[in-house]
Amino acid sequence: MIQSPPMDAGQLETEALSAIAGASSLAELDRARVRYLGRNSELKQALREVRDRESGRPLNELRERLEAALAERRAVLDEVDLERRLHEDVADVTLPGEAIPRGHYHLITQIRREVEDIFLGMGYEVVDGREVETPRYLFDALNMPPGHPTRSPLHTFFLNADAVLRTETSPSQIHTMESKPPPVYMVSLGRCYRRDTPDPTHYPIFHQVEGLAVDEGITLADLKGTLRHLLRQLFGEEVEARFVTDFFPFTEPSLGAYVSCFACKGAGCRLCKQEGWIEIGGSGMVDPNVLRFVGYDPEKVSGFAFGWGLERIAIGRHGMPDIRMLWEDDLRVLAQF
Ligand code: DAH
Repeated sequence: MIQSPPMDAGQLETEALSAIAGASSLAELDRARVRYLGRNSELKQALREVRDRESGRPLNELRERLEAALAERRAVLDEVDLERRLHEDVADVTLPGEAIPRGHYHLITQIRREVEDIFLGMGYEVVDGREVETPRYLFDALNMPPGHPTRSPLHTFFLNADAVLRTETSPSQIHTMESKPPPVYMVSLGRCYRRDTPDPTHYPIFHQVEGLAVDEGITLADLKGTLRHLLRQLFGEEVEARFVTDFFPFTEPSLGAYVSCFACKGAGCRLCKQEGWIEIGGSGMVDPNVLRFVGYDPEKVSGFAFGWGLERIAIGRHGMPDIRMLWEDDLRVLAQF
């Protein structure tokens, strides 16, 4: 049998204890454990060769002392390690957080809410419309005969023959009147879609506010009074506005509303197409055909209606030179409002 070289137990113990005591990390301590108590350590090999109690006991006692020293040192290093981690991983709850820039509503949303508030203040209700309409609500009910240009797919986005993206918010009038008898005082705001080529005052997607008042004895004076109030609220007391005669199939007579061009102060520019005035939208006295369509009696009630563009209000009020800026998501523009 192979005779291992005699082992000097005293020297081994001194060496091992000093390696254990000198270990400054758990990794270092583990290396000492492997070296002095591992399967191939001198001590373990000597123990394997023990044949009697006498020679075995001192070796086992040595092993126990070394194991005790190891456990003791490990407890100390565990503590040190915990302290270090607690110290390094600490979160300073008093440090200021990362500031998240605060956003705000898009200008069109702001105007939408303003307009809703103005009409709620006059006792109107705010109703939701439908962005996808049927030809019945978008055309027939609004007194547009079959050959009307708006019914052409060249002007209007058709999803299929019976579903069409609304070109105006006016169908909301019909839904509201069909749902209840007069009186009606309502506004409805939302998106509209037209096959328009984008230019400074056009975009294929835009927003309108539709308004409708139907009651006994409503006259054109009520229409002008209400819209002048709206103009003053949106543009200030000094607003320069004018109403001109116009035509819409669902109103008779019809009026167009214009405000003085903010950009050129009425002198004429690209924005107002040299006219000095910007068209805000249409209005008029509800055509008797429309009232009859929903089952109202035009001999008993009359009404006015209007549909104004929110983008037009935005450019008119802020002198925005181009409606497309509202869609470019450029914070340098949007953050100004
Ligand atoms: N719907 C029209 C448009 O988009 C605007 C309009 C005109 C709405 C007269 C009305 C109205 O309610 O009475 O051009």
